[in-house]
Amino acid sequence: MAESQGADGAGAGPGAEALDVRAHNRRMWDRQVRRGNRWTVPVSPAEVAAARRGEWAVQLTSSTPAPRAWFPPLAGADVLALASGGGQQGPILAAAGARVTVLDNSPAQLERDREVAAREGLELLAVEGDMADLSRFPDAGFDLVFHPCSNSFVPDVRPVWREAFRVLRPGGVLLAGFVNPASYVFDQPAAQRGELRVRHVLPYSDLADLTDEERAAFAAEDEPLAWSHTLDDQLGGQLDAGFHLTALREDRGRETLDAYMPTNVMTRAVKPA
Ligand SMILES: C[S@@+](CC[C@H](N)C(=O)[O-])C[C@H]1O[C@@H](n2cnc3c(N)ncnc32)[C@H](O)[C@@H]1O
Repeated sequence: MAESQGADGAGAGPGAEALDVRAHNRRMWDRQVRRGNRWTVPVSPAEVAAARRGEWAVQLTSSTPAPRAWFPPLAGADVLALASGGGQQGPILAAAGARVTVLDNSPAQLERDREVAAREGLELLAVEGDMADLSRFPDAGFDLVFHPCSNSFVPDVRPVWREAFRVLRPGGVLLAGFVNPASYVFDQPAAQRGELRVRHVLPYSDLADLTDEERAAFAAEDEPLAWSHTLDDQLGGQLDAGFHLTALREDRGRETLDAYMPTNVMTRAVKPA
């Protein structure tokens, strides 16, 4: 299918066969920043000031902040905020005393982190990269990997867990958010209208399970491509990577399905010492 060209030269509706997922989702998230998507709005000076006083909360999922008891001591901790751009969690964790590296695929999202860091005098490193390939980081360099709901934007989540395990120190903590795969059973345009119509067999992929026309319509709305993954891959993948799961909580998202069941999940896992 021919692609129409957006203002930034990006195609609006790539056919599945020729698509570079990472490049496509980079464009979509850069455009989400321009749209002011909730997950691209940086924290305020007041939130940073409160974090400096020890009063902080950060989101792994949509509604309820990650429990404070799940975090290791942050003062002087090396933290990787993984696929967590947008000037949100990274700056708060830095203000709380951590040495923070934010890795994200979207330059515009990373620019948000740099803006907040400059505005607030925070030391924070923002690097562009793929959450599934952390080869730029040595083994065992971080005390905490903080990975908010974002792995639905990669086709394969297992490498993310393996890489998180590798870059953590023994005893290090992985905090992760993800979307319950049940969300992806339903026809998405219908769900956005408030109607739950069962359509897809799991695991779901925007690439394999939509028509070119449907994908073009998503891209015209600057929607990144997403995958449902499975609980095998989300939870079993962490265990297979070597983690010990120590806590799990469900959380409400903002989808139609959330009226019936919580669609977000957060987990705490530890790399054995
Ligand atoms: C829902 S936003 C999450 C950021 C936000 N700070 C939060 O609170 O959840 C999803 C993020 O994942 C990033 N992302 C998507 N694909 C990625 C990839 N392959 N590697 C790294 N980051 C990626 C996007 O650029 C975007 O910033």
